[in-house]
Amino acid sequence: MRKRIAVFASGFGSNLQALIDFSAKNDLVGDISLVFSNNAEAKALERAAKHGINSFHLDPADYANREEFEREILKVLEKERIDIIVLAGYMFLLTDLIISKYRNRILNIHPAILPSFKGAHGIKDAYDYGVKVSGVTVHFADAELDHGPIIMQEPVYIDQGDTVEKFEEKIHIVEHKIYPLAVQLLCQGRLRINGRKVEIL
Ligand code: GAR
Repeated sequence: MRKRIAVFASGFGSNLQALIDFSAKNDLVGDISLVFSNNAEAKALERAAKHGINSFHLDPADYANREEFEREILKVLEKERIDIIVLAGYMFLLTDLIISKYRNRILNIHPAILPSFKGAHGIKDAYDYGVKVSGVTVHFADAELDHGPIIMQEPVYIDQGDTVEKFEEKIHIVEHKIYPLAVQLLCQGRLRINGRKVEIL
């Protein structure tokens, strides 16, 4: 059965766009049914509207705590019968409320080779550190920052003379290539988790 996917995005939404483009060109075994943002200004919300995808925004500042905030999100996810959550630049840590409800059905993408350079500035942190190779990680999300079992990693080299902008561009090209593939694998039920190891069937 086709999976119903919710994409959570806080900002620009280029990974959301890559998923939309992939689903338009390939047989994504799922439908991008919903987009959620914690940021009313997120370009991701505009992208959703442009493609006729249902979207909603909730401001965490309107809630007493993160659990209350997530309870409201969950209500919408349940109403929309969402099977899978794809975090695409969602810069807000999930609590156990959503994690336990969607255990092993939440993906995240991070612009570095985890466990290095976790956090909101993975690209700049790697660049400033002077590493010669960094990359992209797609992993299952858990309640810890950039932490769950790893599905895919692809290296991106920092060549001599690369500016941080050039390096960022190279990272995004890889993100947009591998994230839709990982989402597809999850939709197809082809990811088996064993502890921290993920097997692609
Ligand atoms: C992406 O580079 C993604 O890997 C990163 O946010 C960016 C969102 O870009 N996520 C993290 O750093 C998670 N720790 P986008 O809004 O254009 O998809």
